[in-house]
Amino acid sequence: MALVSDEIIAGFRTHFRSDVTPDVYRAPGRVNLIGEHTDYNLGFVFPIALEMACFVAIAPAGHGKLRAYSRDMGDEFRISVEELPNAKPAGKWHDYVVGVARELARAGVKLESRDLWIKSTVPAGSGLSSSAALEIGTAVALLDSREMNRLDIALLGQRAESGFVGMPCGIMDQYASVFGHAGAAIQIDCRSLTHEYVPLPRNAAIVAVNSMVKHELGTSAYRERVAECQAAVAAIRAIEPCVESLRDASLDLFNRVQNRIPDVPRRRARHVISETQRVIDFAAAARANDLGEMGRLFLASHRSMQHDYEITCEEIDFLVDTAITLPGVYGARMTGGGFGGCTVNLIAPDAANSFRENLTRAYQDKFGITPAFYDCKPAEGAGRA
Ligand code: GLA
Repeated sequence: MALVSDEIIAGFRTHFRSDVTPDVYRAPGRVNLIGEHTDYNLGFVFPIALEMACFVAIAPAGHGKLRAYSRDMGDEFRISVEELPNAKPAGKWHDYVVGVARELARAGVKLESRDLWIKSTVPAGSGLSSSAALEIGTAVALLDSREMNRLDIALLGQRAESGFVGMPCGIMDQYASVFGHAGAAIQIDCRSLTHEYVPLPRNAAIVAVNSMVKHELGTSAYRERVAECQAAVAAIRAIEPCVESLRDASLDLFNRVQNRIPDVPRRRARHVISETQRVIDFAAAARANDLGEMGRLFLASHRSMQHDYEITCEEIDFLVDTAITLPGVYGARMTGGGFGGCTVNLIAPDAANSFRENLTRAYQDKFGITPAFYDCKPAEGAGRA
């Protein structure tokens, strides 16, 4: 990371002060391999942290404020340290920074005046978790070398996003950014908040393809899905009172009671319950080096999101439907919250070039858009860059 750090330090010095050497922190984005919309239903997810990350350079300042500059937005923001506990969201990028600072202050961390210079290599709006990278990058930078339990850092980032920014997200993105591990995927149990590292087969590449579209349904559709899952739990509880979340419902139970659940919550529940099982099956297939089965589960997950959870879109379905016809492709699916962003593809490494060329041509012909491709290798979680 030395080169990146030098660039971040140079950016800080040019923008703020040339006579200081800031500390540089890094928090990664993530690509979720399988287990979509299962986190807030307390099921399993299976992301990898990425080399693409948010970098934060930080140094003490004497002006009594937190001053943050976003290189990507070309915008500076400041807030006095005393105002932090009662800060209000502004609907801007710095809500993530202020939300995290507010949570740290509420957790009893004494914040002092600082300058932060921020630059992210995680493409925004791509479903690769640029928001969590910014939250966790801000958290580790503001903590500086002060100790905080790593799970608490992830939870604090999630609280900033749900309680301050206003997106009622699950824990996956922040957890992955904190606990990422080079060389392995993270199977997270979102009920017990524990994880296991699962090494991935070496003879396959993971490629994310950015559709370059993001339909603005995002937050409202996410909220709706959360509510529909709660409605499904209520309907199942009326028959099986021990079910407190969709995690508690097996596929057998679901099949027995599904006729008593209204249509939309029933399909949402079918996605979540089957997807949680797919995570378990995917981890077993990864351990057994069974790329065929991993690919099959990718596609089953996509179809479930397409038809039952209804969070895909035309561009994303096209990228998946085209990818699976190409040589060397084991499977493809949308990744992340939905309505655009990226697909994730499991492919034979020597097929990477033809995959890229064929998919680019087909997508350009159909939508006039050039997709972006990212090679995804599991990277370490947040810390000093
Ligand atoms: C967003 C949320 C996550 C998760 C995914 C869908 O990324 O932030 O908590 O719910 O969508 O799997």
